[in-house]
Amino acid sequence: MSHVRHILIFSILLASPAAAQNLDSLLARMTLEEKLGQLNLLSAGGRASPEQMQLVRAGRLGGLFNVIGAENTNPRQRIAVTESRLKIPLLFGLDVIHGYRTIFPIPLGEASSFDPDAAEATARAAGQEAAAFGINWTYAPMVDIARDPRWGRIAEGSGEDPYLGSLLAAARVRGFQQNIFATVKHFAGYGAAEAGREYNETEISERTMREIYLPPFKAAVDAGVASLMSAFNDISGVPASGNAWLTDTVLRREWGFTGFVVSDWTSVAELINHGVAGSQAEAGRRALTAGVDMDMQSGIYADSLAALVRSNQIPLAVVDSAVMRILRAKQRLGLFRDPYRARTAPPTTELRTLARRVAGESIVLLKNERSLLPLPKSGPVAVIGPLADNKEEPLGPWHTQGRGDDVVTVLQGIKSKVPSGTQVLYAQGSGIEDTATAGFAAAVAAARQAKVAILVLGERGDMSGEAASRSSLGLPGVQERLLEAVAGTGTPVVLVLMNGRPLILEWASDHVPAIVETWFLGVEAGNATADVLFGDVNPSGRLPITFPRVLGQVPLYYNHRNTGRPPDVNNKFSSKYIDVPVTPRYPFGFGLSYTTYAYSNLKLSAARARASDSITATVTVANTGNREGTEVVQLYVRDEVASVSRPVRELKAFRRVALRPGESRTVELRIAVRDLWFYGLDMKPVVEPGTFRVYVGANSAEGLEATFECIP
Ligand code: NOJ
Repeated sequence: MSHVRHILIFSILLASPAAAQNLDSLLARMTLEEKLGQLNLLSAGGRASPEQMQLVRAGRLGGLFNVIGAENTNPRQRIAVTESRLKIPLLFGLDVIHGYRTIFPIPLGEASSFDPDAAEATARAAGQEAAAFGINWTYAPMVDIARDPRWGRIAEGSGEDPYLGSLLAAARVRGFQQNIFATVKHFAGYGAAEAGREYNETEISERTMREIYLPPFKAAVDAGVASLMSAFNDISGVPASGNAWLTDTVLRREWGFTGFVVSDWTSVAELINHGVAGSQAEAGRRALTAGVDMDMQSGIYADSLAALVRSNQIPLAVVDSAVMRILRAKQRLGLFRDPYRARTAPPTTELRTLARRVAGESIVLLKNERSLLPLPKSGPVAVIGPLADNKEEPLGPWHTQGRGDDVVTVLQGIKSKVPSGTQVLYAQGSGIEDTATAGFAAAVAAARQAKVAILVLGERGDMSGEAASRSSLGLPGVQERLLEAVAGTGTPVVLVLMNGRPLILEWASDHVPAIVETWFLGVEAGNATADVLFGDVNPSGRLPITFPRVLGQVPLYYNHRNTGRPPDVNNKFSSKYIDVPVTPRYPFGFGLSYTTYAYSNLKLSAARARASDSITATVTVANTGNREGTEVVQLYVRDEVASVSRPVRELKAFRRVALRPGESRTVELRIAVRDLWFYGLDMKPVVEPGTFRVYVGANSAEGLEATFECIP
């Protein structure tokens, strides 16, 4: 195997100068229309298919997306490589976000695993499955840092932290690109949409952009991502799809990115609505000259730019560079050699085993009073709620070819977990957004007959994802009233949540003994949930995003800067609210287990370090309970005094550590001091001398402390 790989690498190396030469001569043979055609990307649903075939034949399309199945991609590819003049193959794109047919947890859920290897594995599997259906390019991973849970697309990303987000971005790029090209999106700042309102404007300082929003993109570029997608939003008045600072200065000049940039859906045409272009041609010119190589769905590059190039309003060199980036990508993907890329999907059992394992790792135990969980595998148990036996919603947003028929519901998962003959009662109680309470009586009756009531509540899958901003974050409809009614029976209640964003859970947090956050776990949702509820899997997920107490606290995130008047309950004139504590309900990094862990003996490898050094923190972590478990040991850093106010904490390392009952281990976490950079007063990255406080513990609100000095 490795021998074959060596030969392959060797032949690619040997072949590349000649192949590059070929692309130059190919470019030289292209007409302007054919060049602009390579920059044109259309959705299969967008225009009538015969018309698109004609575009392919005429060399006026660089790629198509939303064409499903090799039986549909192959005929189009055949036209491109046999009937078009220059025989340039097409890219076939699709939003393979968390699975193709086999749906894995939503990315925010998977981020709760704090397990980049898991994210890489699901991306690899999803890419392989998609490739078997003719797809060679996905519009994932989404790496937008998000601090506002009203924004529905928070579900598609890795949460609020740039360090975790960067590791997962790189892992997912590596995973997808084993089989298909990845697209890291949305470049950039989309997660900062004001008021959490979809497609809204953003106001991001350059420092915050560089320190918070850009690092996951940089990590993806360093991991070799093939393409980036430019975002819909503006940044302080400059739309991301016509923003030369982003797509040229930072991306290409500073980071050395050699792949290509694709616009988001009609985001080139939308420059007109943003008010930075007065016509289609102007919008196209603005986007292309800013560095957006491929126009998704506006059709402007292909239809409106030729005249501007001929009249030198757009330099031909700009067009040529963009075309070369697309051609090089097609070459890198191997499309010139093998345009059809016939692939076989991984076996279903393998995919489902992976889905169940990663879903189990993604579950976060938020509350477990008096160790109500795990439950004994005996009845009677009542399973209640609009999501308890729902086959569609666990797929979550962006589930492409996922099917409800493939989903194991929580009710099914529980039934197959408990011994046959165990009494499992079911009542729907209400719909997800219903206002009717007629179903409550049956739910209450079921709970009364049971030893425990499991309520499966939350959002519809499409209440998060694109175009799904919410202005309230409670349980939709009458679900909270259903919860109160069932809890009123006195039967102990386990609340199982399915949702694509942090919810406001005040009543539940105060009154329900056990709360399990499952996000949208995909096809194995029911089995993975039952694994955790009955203790076959000890939960190890940690929140990648802060859960506020009330919506009025939003945006609320752990890595904020200090104020001149830090919150102080004893000081009225400090930074806080008069009607709610300033702290979150559940902090970033938080998650419980069925066992307990104790931290002791934090030591740093040095008291002083230069920016070129590394520091290793060692800490003893003990499993002090009576079950095997995996703790996510987290290391945070605070730069105590700097020329610019720095966050109170920033995650800089973590490690998943498996521990048997009674076992204790010395865990090492290494940080490179250079990774503690920030943007200084002169807007250059700097690590300043001074004291750094290191926290090691179970989440962003606790931890042992130690300090070291950074010396010049
Ligand atoms: C619009 C979305 O913003 C983007 O994420 C997606 O990839 C494209 N549509 C294509 O479906």
